[in-house]
Amino acid sequence: MKPLQEALLAWYRANRRPLPWRGERDPYRILVAEVLLQQTRVEQAIPYYRRFLERFPTLRALGEASLEEVLWVWQGAGYYRRAVYLHRLAREVEALPQGYEALRRLPGLGPYTAAALASMAFGERVAAVDGNVRRVISRLYALENPSPKAVWTLAQGLVPPEDPGEWNQAVMELGATVCRPRGPACPSCPLLPFCRGREDPGRYPGARRREVREERLAALVLWGRQGVYLERLTGRFPGLYGVPLFPLEALPQRVQAWGVRPLEAGEVVHALTHRRLRVRVYVAPWDGEGEDPRERPLPKLMEKVLRQAEAFLAHQGIGTLPHA
Ligand code: ADE
Repeated sequence: MKPLQEALLAWYRANRRPLPWRGERDPYRILVAEVLLQQTRVEQAIPYYRRFLERFPTLRALGEASLEEVLWVWQGAGYYRRAVYLHRLAREVEALPQGYEALRRLPGLGPYTAAALASMAFGERVAAVDGNVRRVISRLYALENPSPKAVWTLAQGLVPPEDPGEWNQAVMELGATVCRPRGPACPSCPLLPFCRGREDPGRYPGARRREVREERLAALVLWGRQGVYLERLTGRFPGLYGVPLFPLEALPQRVQAWGVRPLEAGEVVHALTHRRLRVRVYVAPWDGEGEDPRERPLPKLMEKVLRQAEAFLAHQGIGTLPHA
């Protein structure tokens, strides 16, 4: 093994955080961890990882559960499409295939997840490149705005034949704890002697210009005799429940269609990866039954909307939403 690889692996063995999926070899459990970690921070992912595997300990158990139950357990982790495709995958395959190419052909598995799984569960020598790895590689080779292909080729060249899964995790761990986006801890980096970007790490990989679009929406909290009107959501939150949510311009039509007189109850802002949702919350007494929102899986955004409605009603001394 080359000095660079030895240095990183020695550092990793001595410094890795004790995470519940470390050393895991069961492909299903690795899949759950990696899918969660794609868009959820490590500390936040741990309780979901445990809860999910406790309730669905095998691919088969997951496939036998209803989507609603899966979403219920995923609730709060966000980016629910991940739970939807894990569930679909569990219904479609009996076992996870052993190899990058075959994994890549499964619905919903991108190159990162397929490579993480192939290397960690099956020992295949393939680089798993996430944002952390991209940053480490860009700094190590002093690359500004490298293409995904360039990063992958360099990352792949470093993967040793023995335990590539451990190697991939070591690079990610370095990116997460030492080679951080801002304020990298270069003096404690095991790769410092090999790093071409060490003089000015902040230059690499350079700012990725992210366009964050803002969407202006309205949420209508219809406040009935037994609770709140909830509908099954589609699109961004498939299979979850929530109050009617629509573009702000559509408010007059919607209000007319429901025949209600809403009060404006403030605003909530919800940040997604490429979008910011600015949601104006309206509350209207409604001549219907409604239901208890605690009995349905709700996305975080809807929890915020209901909390905002509740705070408004309490502040105005109007009353409380039934059970909100
Ligand atoms: N981020 C993505 N995969 C990870 C892993 N296996 N351990 C820690 N952080 C990660």
